[in-house]
Amino acid sequence: MKEFYLDYAATTPLDDEVRQFIEPYLCKNFHNPSSMHIHAIENRKAINQARKKIADAIGAEPEEIFFTSGGTESTNWAIKGYADKHPELKEIITSKVEHKATLNTLHYMEKKGYKVHYLDVDAFGLIDLKKLDQTINDRTLMVSIIYANNEIGTIQDVKSISKICRRHQTKLHLDAVQAFGQQFIDLQDLDIDFMSLSSHKFYGPKGVGALYVKKGLEIEPLIHGGSHEDFHRAGTENLYGIVGMGEAAKIAANHIESSREHYQKIQIDFHQKMKKAFPDIKLNGTPCGSNRSFNHLSYAFKDVLGYQLHFQLNKLGVYVSTGSACASNVIKPSHVIEAIGIEEAYQPCVIRVTFGKYSKLEDNDEIIERFKKAYHELKD
Ligand SMILES: Cc1ncc(COP(=O)(O)O)c(C=O)c1O
Repeated sequence: MKEFYLDYAATTPLDDEVRQFIEPYLCKNFHNPSSMHIHAIENRKAINQARKKIADAIGAEPEEIFFTSGGTESTNWAIKGYADKHPELKEIITSKVEHKATLNTLHYMEKKGYKVHYLDVDAFGLIDLKKLDQTINDRTLMVSIIYANNEIGTIQDVKSISKICRRHQTKLHLDAVQAFGQQFIDLQDLDIDFMSLSSHKFYGPKGVGALYVKKGLEIEPLIHGGSHEDFHRAGTENLYGIVGMGEAAKIAANHIESSREHYQKIQIDFHQKMKKAFPDIKLNGTPCGSNRSFNHLSYAFKDVLGYQLHFQLNKLGVYVSTGSACASNVIKPSHVIEAIGIEEAYQPCVIRVTFGKYSKLEDNDEIIERFKKAYHELKD
């Protein structure tokens, strides 16, 4: 049976070029980048080249990029690290549709005495800009917003969010984990302070990410120890992860236009066919062709349960996700689905379909046939 992987928002396979690029660092180039001998210095250079590739991909300076273990650590660090340097600012603003990496960091901050404002979103998952403007005050430490939503695919108006933050001189952290590689990010144009990235979302290795920290901003390390990452993030570097992430970032940034074209064709065709096959289904998030991730579809079905449909599809070799992968063992609707307020009858069944580099337009018909089979097995 042919299998179809439609869970690229959960993670992506390692790009073959990236795999080849990493290979020497798995064995031959094993030297500790902090040592002083010649091979170690070469490895240090490789880390700095990776830093430059990431900086170039987002219009930043290499000194503004710090490697971490992934998006979760980057977000934890941006919030906790900046808070440590500004103990007088005790309020943080975010939205109700953030990833758990942000929400649970902020729940921790609440326990530490911070007041966190969770902005409502509209039915598409877009935050209310007026409300953001009204909520920022002189006790605000920062605003932390998800750029492209992992569950429903909504792209926030980050330009307007940035302008509002700038007007109030408030710091802005963007969780760009799902946006990088899909959106053109140019930090010469988009004025932000912190940005979280994760390599495994753009065909790089897992367990490595980066935090962009705007030049001049002070941030306390999350992990203390040696002098790695210019005294910002201690611990012997994940050398192969870092060089792989750099190469993956370069490839992703060079192919945004072509991958958009590829994804969009598949997305639009799939969506039209799904609507025909299931006239009752609802698309969660923003419509296709507007401010929506190009590889992302999230559907709400009536009369079946999400985990059951997921299970049936799984048996038929179609690998999707119910809402967010991190929440797929939880039956109650995710916080994002609750926040966009979809009708109660649709809440128990949300299925996320996300395409990627290896998805093919000609597979859509077969995938939809399997959706029909899976659904009718449950319903009939
Ligand atoms: C929007 C978003 N933020 C943060 C993360 C966490 O990233 P990582 O898996 O690298 O810790 C994810 C991962 O699913 C994500 O989708």
